[in-house]
Order: sequence, then structure tokens, then C-alpha cells
Amino acid sequence: MLTPAKGRRVTITGLGCHVPEQVMTNDDLAKIVDTSDEWISTRTGIRERRVAADDEAMSDLALPAARRALEMAGVDASTLDAVIVATITPDMTFPATAAIVADQLGARDAAAYDLSAGCTGFMYAVTQAYSMVAGGLADRVLVVGGDILTRVLDWSDRSTVVLFGDGAGAVVLEATDAGGFLGFELGADGAGGMELMLPGSGSRLFPNGEKFLTMNGREVFKFATRVMVSSAEAVLGVCGKTVDDIDLYVPHQANVRIIDHAAKKLGFPEEKVIVNVNRYGNTSSGSIPLALADAADSSRLQPGSLVLMTGMGAGLTWGSALIEWTHSTTGAVA
Ligand code: UT7
Repeated sequence: MLTPAKGRRVTITGLGCHVPEQVMTNDDLAKIVDTSDEWISTRTGIRERRVAADDEAMSDLALPAARRALEMAGVDASTLDAVIVATITPDMTFPATAAIVADQLGARDAAAYDLSAGCTGFMYAVTQAYSMVAGGLADRVLVVGGDILTRVLDWSDRSTVVLFGDGAGAVVLEATDAGGFLGFELGADGAGGMELMLPGSGSRLFPNGEKFLTMNGREVFKFATRVMVSSAEAVLGVCGKTVDDIDLYVPHQANVRIIDHAAKKLGFPEEKVIVNVNRYGNTSSGSIPLALADAADSSRLQPGSLVLMTGMGAGLTWGSALIEWTHSTTGAVA
């Protein structure tokens, strides 16, 4: 799907994020599996990540992020028309985590559902929320992206356990007179789906009882370097913009080598690229909103900034959006 913005203009009016307290460094991981800070930091750029406590579930990360985003937007939860939670680690398969979050927030008039698009979930959910508001179906939609992937990792598998961390981010989408979203590009290649999957998490029976995330790292790496570039180029093209017009590039934070490759190929200078994978690892659907929050809090994301976001992940899926930022969103970290 490739489209310029249509209908009412829509923007992000509030931004919030939340990560668990517990920090796990590369050295901590080296005590659990056969790895080293040197290997992890040179191959991925990751130095530490957050890990949810045993009593923390996805809705516990989503709620503070959502509250912060609503407060920043000045929106009362009771006026929300929809709550979408993009996650592959919901509290449970059903009820939807979005329904739990909507209830806790007091969003009594909101439709509430979860969306599964792997690490691209936030981009997919933002696009859906955009289309609801642009088309006049809704005036205010809350989107949360986040995951607790540490819960579904095999903690004896050094090839995956070093990559992921936990976290969530939230945005409020509303109509606006000027600025806001300019276009979107989303895609999926189910043929590559088995390269990154969670067996035993649904109705397909797996004979040997596998239940942890599995990934063909090299194949996903090749896929990522390809789509991070093609998706960004497609959305820029459909919006009639070039890389020089963009103030801030906010890529999915999976591996600094993937980010560097995409930035170089697209032609972004280092100072326009947001990188925080060193502090959080890959937080899946939480990664782009966490990166936006970091950018806002370091004054790199300002009203008037033209921002390109691109995600990719399980599915295999990818997605980009271009937005002219309209609101001040500093203080997003809850
Ligand atoms: O959101 C999307 C999700 N995922 C991604 O975007 C991940 C995409 N893939 C990647 O980022 C990279 O492929 C990885 C970081 C997963 C792996 O990096 P790589 O440079 O492709 O390493 P590799 O898989 O080719 O492994 C190189 C070596 C292997 O040893 P041998 O066979 O050369 O002796 C691995 O066994 O590194 C070994 N290795 C490790 N060594 C120390 C793999 N994991 C580790 C580890 N510590 N944690």
C-alpha cells in the first residue's frame, strides 16, 4: 500500500513512552549465555536493554505511556473513539490488551483492539488510526506500540537473547488545520514469515513443543537492509519529497548496522538519524515511539520538523510514514 494523505489532515498531538526499571547490560547477559559485550556491541550496537519484572505485562507498560500521551495532548480518555495496541506480546491472546488499557484509562466510548504486525505494528496502527480520523470516522485515536519480548525468548539462545528489550510508546492522533501526516507505505511478504516467528503461540500445533521466538538472523538482516531503503524511498516519492527535505529520520531500532546501512544508502547525514538501540535493544513495536520520545526530549523533534519513520519486522512486514510534526512533545518519557 502506497498513498499520499487523503481527507482531513491528521497529526500527532501527544506522545508518551514507558520502559521497565530493570536494566540488563551486555555484561549481565554474558553471565547467562556464551557471549560478550564486545560481540554484542560491535555486531548490533546494543549496550543495554530493559527487562520487565515478573509481575509486569504489556498493559502495565502501555498504561503509563498512554496516560502521558493523553496528558500531553490535553485529551480526556472518555473522549477517545478508538484505542489500538500494536503488540505481539499482549497480556493474553484475548481479551485484547487494548480493551484492558481502554478500561483502565476510562475510555468508555472507544473501540479497542490489538494489532499484530511484528516490529512494524506501530506503523500499521498509526496508519489505521490516521485513516479513521482522516475519513471522519473518529476524532481522537490512541495508538500504543510495545512489547515484552523478553518473555518469549529462549534464555539459553545467545543468537536472539542479546537483541531484544521491553518498552512501550503511545501517541494520540487528532485532526489538524495544517501539517500532520503526508503519506504512507506499508507492505508484507508472508513467504518470508517463518524466518522470524513465535511457534506454539496460536492454533498451529508444533510437534516438538517449541514455544520461543526463532529467527534466521542473516535472512532478516538482508530483508531489513532492503526494505528500510525501498519503503523510505517509496513514501518520499509519493509525497514529492527528497531526503534533503527531511529533518529527522526515525528508523526501527533493531541493529545499528541496519540503521547505518539504510541511512547511508538513503543519504542521511548522521545528525538527522535517531539511534537509541544502544540503550533499549530492539523493543519491537515500542521502538519507533521510544525513538520519537528521545528525539523530542533532546530537542531534535520540534513543531515544523519533517519526520520520516520506517519500521520492519515479523510477517515479514514493513511500513513508513512521513509527517510534518505540529506539536511540542518534550517530556514524553513516563
Ligand atoms: O525487528 C526485526 C528483528 N530482527 C533483526 O532485525 C535482526 C537482523 N539480524 C541481525 O541483526 C544479525 O544477523 C544478528 C545480530 C542477529 C547476527 O549478526 P551476524 O553478523 O549476522 O552474525 P551471524 O549470525 O553471522 O553469526 C556470526 C558468529 C557465529 O559464529 P560462527 O558460526 O561464525 O562461528 C555465531 O554463532 O557469531 C556467533 N554468535 C555469537 N557470538 C557471541 C551469534 N550470536 C552470538 C552472540 N555472542 N550473542
